[in-house]
Amino acid sequence: MDITGKVALVTGGAKRVGKAIVLALAQRGCKLVVHYHTSAAEADLTIQELRSAGHEAIALQANLTREEDVDRMIDAAVAHFGRVDILVNSAAVFFRTPIDSLTLNEWKLTLDTNLMATFMCSQKLGLKMRTWGWGHIINMADVAGQRPWADYLAYSVSKAGVIALTQGLAIALAPEVRVNAVAPGPMLFLDDTPEEVRTREIRKTLLKRMGTPEDVADMVVFIAESDYSTGALFHVDGGRSLA
Ligand SMILES: NC(=O)c1ccc[n+]([C@@H]2O[C@H](COP(=O)([O-])OP(=O)(O)OC[C@H]3O[C@@H](n4cnc5c(N)ncnc54)[C@H](OP(=O)(O)O)[C@@H]3O)[C@@H](O)[C@H]2O)c1
Repeated sequence: MDITGKVALVTGGAKRVGKAIVLALAQRGCKLVVHYHTSAAEADLTIQELRSAGHEAIALQANLTREEDVDRMIDAAVAHFGRVDILVNSAAVFFRTPIDSLTLNEWKLTLDTNLMATFMCSQKLGLKMRTWGWGHIINMADVAGQRPWADYLAYSVSKAGVIALTQGLAIALAPEVRVNAVAPGPMLFLDDTPEEVRTREIRKTLLKRMGTPEDVADMVVFIAESDYSTGALFHVDGGRSLA
């Protein structure tokens, strides 16, 4: 389907994978709401890039673990563009949580950011999309949501929750709103990821290489433009989930 003129809100859209998704949706003719939390300078830069290429875009700040922030963000997006047609839940946290030292605070931070915030944005916007008659929610999951990593237990559980949430919301919000998820493999490591971990992760893919943020963005665009999928999980992982 043609998504030209659709309004897309991308959480965590100021940099890294979220930014690639923002740029790809803009190239397909979407108007963009770029959400950021702490990356104000990167969000400004992204907005400048979009506007100088002729795209309509605004940036909105929110801590998505706070309901009042989520409400403020959605109200501001709707006040500006009149609606939001496509929601991409990309904001997340990712850090090691070995079982011997995993704290309840780490557990709560990870689950609140990756799962609860995705639920809040999806419920609040999904119900509006239903009354508007059309909408599409695309959640960022992870291969770890299907095969948990012991040293990233909180993260893996949060992404397993995102996959279950995607399926449940697809049922709850049908037929007006479609809800799908993407499970990326290794795309961008954190700066402090040791070389041996990078090498090991790449070796675990069937394609023997990293993906790129643009690979994920291409998948998000493909899903956004596909008209007959809902409740589905799309892998873009170089075969990592089979290895
Ligand atoms: N990178 C990979 O290789 C990879 C692999 C598999 C899955 N994924 C998933 O793909 C998505 C994007 O990946 P990424 O690596 O680009 O993500 P990321 O850099 O880890 O995080 C994306 C953004 O989340 C935002 N965020 C964190 N806590 C927040 C909070 N409390 N409220 C609002 N926003 C918050 C941050 O915004 P600010 O910077 O503005 O603070 C951050 O820029 C994530 O869902 C990730 O789990 C990534």
